This record gives sequence, C-alpha cells and structure tokens, in this order.
Amino acid sequence: MSYLSQLERSFIESGALAAPGELLGTGGDTAVRDLRTPSAPSNATPLRGRVGFAQDVVPTAVDPRPVAQAPSAGRGEIAPLAALVGADQTAPLVTGGELRYVNLDIAASAPALVAVAERVAEFLPYYSSVHRGSGYASIVSTGAYENARRVIADFVGARFDDVVQVVRHTTDAFNLLARAVPGDVVHLDLEHHANLLPWRSSGSRQVAVAGTLEETLVALDAELAKAPAALLAVTGASNVTGELLPLDRLVAIAKAHGARIAVDGAQLVPHRRIDIEAAGIDYVAFSGHKVYAPYGAGVLVGRRDWLDAASPLLLGGGAVREVSTTGVSFAATPARHEAGTPNVVGAVAIAAALEELERIGEDAVVAHETALRTRLVDGLRQLPGVRVLEIWPGEAEVIGVATFSVEGFSAEQVAHFLSAEWGVGVRDGRFCAHPLLARLNGGRTAVRASLGLGSSSSDVHRLLAGIDQLVTHGPEWTYGVDGLPSVDPRPLPAWATGGAVAAAPCRD
Ligand SMILES: Cc1ncc(COP(=O)(O)O)c(C=O)c1O
Repeated sequence: MSYLSQLERSFIESGALAAPGELLGTGGDTAVRDLRTPSAPSNATPLRGRVGFAQDVVPTAVDPRPVAQAPSAGRGEIAPLAALVGADQTAPLVTGGELRYVNLDIAASAPALVAVAERVAEFLPYYSSVHRGSGYASIVSTGAYENARRVIADFVGARFDDVVQVVRHTTDAFNLLARAVPGDVVHLDLEHHANLLPWRSSGSRQVAVAGTLEETLVALDAELAKAPAALLAVTGASNVTGELLPLDRLVAIAKAHGARIAVDGAQLVPHRRIDIEAAGIDYVAFSGHKVYAPYGAGVLVGRRDWLDAASPLLLGGGAVREVSTTGVSFAATPARHEAGTPNVVGAVAIAAALEELERIGEDAVVAHETALRTRLVDGLRQLPGVRVLEIWPGEAEVIGVATFSVEGFSAEQVAHFLSAEWGVGVRDGRFCAHPLLARLNGGRTAVRASLGLGSSSSDVHRLLAGIDQLVTHGPEWTYGVDGLPSVDPRPLPAWATGGAVAAAPCRD
C-alpha cells in the first residue's frame, strides 16, 4: 500500500518504522514513507465503501500499480533555502496524531522570514508615531518608515523621481492607480481580480488570452493600436499557473502605442528581480504578505505625476497641507495617498524582506524553486486523473506554482483531504481569477500548490504521497459534499476559536 494507515503513522511518529531508506524527509519530517520503496503487502481492509467523501467517486479496486511507478519527489533532498517563522509547526490530523505542517500555500500568504520577524522585534521597542512626534521613538519610527521607502525603491530599481506609496496590499495599490490613471486601461483576461476590477471604473478594455503567447501579444498590440490607452496593466506572473509574462515584449508594445505599463508584481517580486527603470516599466505593485513580510503593508512604486494629480482615495489626517472649515488642500505624494497613521511595522518588514531576498540572490531563488517545481509537476503528471493547468503549455517560464485538478474529486475535497489526513496546506478555488479559470478549467475550481524559500523536497513528496493515496485508495476519513471532514476532531488554539470559520469560507 502506498499510503499510511493510522497505525503506520503512529509507528512512524514514534520512530518505530523509521528504518533507513524507508522514510523520506529532513528537518524533522520523518513521517512520510518513500513511495519508491516497495512496502510489504498489506492485509488492511480496502478503504472505499467504508469511508470517503459523500457522493464518493473513488475507484473501486485496490491500487493495481506497482509501487515503483508511484510518484516520487525525485532524487536527492532539497532543503529550504531560508528560515521561515513556523517552519517546524505541526498540524493535527483527523486520523489522529500530528505531522510537521507542510505549507504549500505560499502564493496566497507567505509566512515571515525569520530575518523579517527579527527586524520587527528589533524595531518594536521604538514603535511610535510616524511624521507626528518629536520624541526619540518617533524620530526612529519616522526614520525607519522613510528608510523602508528607500530600500523598496532600490530593490525595484525605481527612477530617482518615482514615488513609493506604502499601501495595504496589491489590491489597494491598483485601486489607487485606477483613481489616478487619465484614460483607458488595457489588460488581459488572465489577471487576478485585483488587476482587473479596479480598471472597470476607469475605462477597462479587456483582451482575451489567445492560444499561444505570441498570438496573445499580437492581440494586445492590436487593441492598443485600435484606440489610445493610458495604461497597459499586466501581471508579472500568473497566480494560477505561475507562468511569467514577457515583460520586455509588453513594455515595447505599450511604448509603441504611447501607453504606460503597470506590472502586478504580487507573484513576481517574491521570485524574480524587477528593475523598473532599466525595463521601462512605469509602475509596479506588490504585497508584503507575499514577500515573507506579513505585517499588513504593500507598495505601489512608479511615476509621480498621475498620483500627484489624483485626489486621494482615502481622506483624513496626514494627507493634507491645510484644512479650513470648508476647504482642503492636499499634500503632494506620497503623503497625499497615505492618510491615517502609517503602517510603519509593515513597511519595516517589507524592507527587511527585500534585503533578505537581495542577500539570498535571485539565482539561488530561481534554482531552488525550479528544482522543486519540476519534481512537483513531474510527480503530479505521473498520477492518474491529475491534470496540471497551463495557459500556454510549454511556452512560458514559471515560478513555483502549480495548479491542478484531480478527476473524480472536487478541488475542495482534495484540499480538505490533504489538510485533514496529510497535514498539507494548499489553496483551492478559482484563485480570484474567475475569467482565467473559466478558460482553463470550465469555470470549475482547482487546487494550487505553491512553493517558496522555505519549501523542501519532503514538502513536495508529502503532497504527492497524499494525492497518490487519494487517487488509488481514497480517503481514510469521511467527508461531506462540501469536502469538509464530517467530524473534525482537530483542536484549534483557544485564541482561534469562537468565529464561524467553516461557515464563512472565502475560497473564490
Ligand atoms: C497576481 C496577484 N495579484 C494581486 C493579488 C492581490 O494581492 P492582495 O490580496 O495582497 O491585495 C494577488 C493575491 O493573491 C495575486 O496573486
């Protein structure tokens, strides 16, 4: 059998089954059997019919495949590239016991780098008002906030007269830019809703993705040629498939038609360097929580003129020069668009994260994530009924993201099963990219596994082993039609109870 029975798990956790060559994993992850290693025939009762998902569609025979053909994470261990907070966190299983938590949902929200958490801890004793106080702590806080702006500008290669707006996240950044853009915005239909819906208020012209990347670029070019547009807004990397867009080509297309270009860097910046001045990019936006700095800030960096001319989206203190009983004159950027008390902790955290990414180096990040993604995708493709989604198959470079469907199971079932029985966190849904999911998966939900600096080969192996169990033997536990465990005995920390988590799922 290529899955772990509860009995096996408890033996493994106690070390009783941890024979050399039998288990995969480093960094304390000794709970996963190497599926390449033939295991003794099992007399266990086949699981299906006994437990499973409501409307169970699990195949009816015991796995006929030789174990040697089961997916593997490939040869050689790949250790995490950087230390993340919570790397050795455990997750309880519905079947009993617990496993090291495998976080393959990095593209949604990445845990803090240890270096980031340390910088925040160093800063917190000085935490005070920014731009509003003369006390020493305020001076330090203001300095830290403005220094963060400088680090961010340097990291993205901003021009000397660009502005760095500290915002809440990418969504906030594009809503702000949409307020400032003086004309139509052209964009593709593959975008995350954050780089799609804000433009609808400013004259959005959507271009459908074509069968090839080349044809898509031609379609964008034609749309921009048809009528002038102020802005071409594109993602640097798809949050659904991980495919990178050719920014050099897109910049050339935008410039040829007199449009500026804004890049959604939410998925790009954690994985690839961007130099906006050298590349001719006018704006880039990204979120702290995707660059291992989850303290509530994001950024919009780019040309100052449109933002200086736009009235603020958020009105209040800090954004003004003068307020009379009837009138107001607003400050210039960046203060103009940073009303309210600044999120200095968020800004400090982003700066620390970017310094750490700089220290690690793009080459190391790319090598790490490429090696892991190759194992992940190769392993998924070996599994029956698993289909990996791609926009332009084989054409584009990719970041460490792979989205897939599993025949016979809904994405919700797969995700809940992986969480409940294998301690693996993935994202399921339509990834806030409904038009793209309509194109790639008939509008159905899918499962996304995403990798980052803290990911390892044993993480990939755990996911593959879990899916292998699902498609060959079905789940051990019983699940409802919504995919949730019918009974969920997993305890939550006391401070995480009391809300209606399951009743208010946000899986779009
Ligand atoms: C490509 C892309 N753009 C924009 C966003 C929105 O980011 P945020 O929710 O931090 O505003 C996301 C989030 O997943 C994303 O993946």
